[in-house]
Amino acid sequence: MHKAYISGTGSCLPERVLTNNELEQMVETSDEWITSRTGIQTRRISGAGEQNYQLAARAAEKALAAAGLEAQELDLVLVATLSPHMIMPSCACFVQAEIGAANAFAFDLNAACSGFLYGLDMAEKYIASRPEMKILVIGSETLSCRVNWEDRNTCILFGDGAGACIVESSSARGIVDSTLHADGNLWNLLYMDSPASRNPDLLDKDRQGCYIQMSGRDVFKYAVRAMEDAVTRLLKRQNLAINDVCLLIPHQANVRILGKLMERLGIEQEKVFINVNKYGNTSAASIPIALDEACQEGRVQQGDLVLLCSFGGGFTWGSMLLYW
Ligand code: UT7
Repeated sequence: MHKAYISGTGSCLPERVLTNNELEQMVETSDEWITSRTGIQTRRISGAGEQNYQLAARAAEKALAAAGLEAQELDLVLVATLSPHMIMPSCACFVQAEIGAANAFAFDLNAACSGFLYGLDMAEKYIASRPEMKILVIGSETLSCRVNWEDRNTCILFGDGAGACIVESSSARGIVDSTLHADGNLWNLLYMDSPASRNPDLLDKDRQGCYIQMSGRDVFKYAVRAMEDAVTRLLKRQNLAINDVCLLIPHQANVRILGKLMERLGIEQEKVFINVNKYGNTSAASIPIALDEACQEGRVQQGDLVLLCSFGGGFTWGSMLLYW
């Protein structure tokens, strides 16, 4: 029986650091409010030469090096993103060209902040039917282009960055199980408009521009409940307990969400990886960036049971268990 396992990780963050003190000059807010309500202290903002696909490609090159693979050996490039620099071609096609993955097919996937988890799950299904495949799964965002910098409710939260991993087959370790969910009825609690339609019959006059719009308090409540439910269900299905988990890497949105999640799951803080303080919410990129940092810091060792969970616009959410 072949399992899909992660043979290499990489990440890339833009150079520019935006601090809470700088945000105080831009909107009516304070370092104290942002830190106490979100835990976020800094976030990264893209500049020249740091388009979404360029961050993604740099993260991909590091993941390839870590896995000991050449780009030409890849069969698939899959990018989870909601902030591509173009609608067509996909970000994945730009990455494929940028890194020289000439033998890979390439496409984007949008499941908002859950995109990377959805992508890993899809990679696992490909490996199950074609174990020889070598797959690059990336979560990459430049949300700074999609934030209304005059809206203090949202502009303090988001940041840019990319994380990547190589997925290959193994008979010993890898993805054990995952559970993915969506509820489109709740779309208007967290969304981003597309640019205006060029078809006058389809033009929606109520749309307010392609910014992230959010009912923060509602998202907060759903996020905690949904991630708790996804994790509990998955552990139960696998006859595992939260104590069996060596490291939980959740989507990084807000330390208060993570605090409530830890409390409800009954998991110790030492077993939860948190870096939202440095990068803010990087949507689909948050889990792969955190996964890469956890590897760099030696927080995951071969054989460890790792738990991932996410929540985002759609709503979409899910969890995944894997043996490292
Ligand atoms: O990946 C999923 C994406 N999104 C999320 O995960 C976000 C989930 N939600 C949250 O993280 C939190 O709800 C927020 C951090 C967005 C907001 O925290 P909150 O404790 O839920 O605050 P609130 O929305 O209830 O707002 C409380 C007050 C409001 O003022 P009034 O109406 O009580 O006078 C806001 O206008 O705080 C005000 N406020 C701010 N004040 C200073 C909102 N944003 C700011 C700000 N600085 N940046």
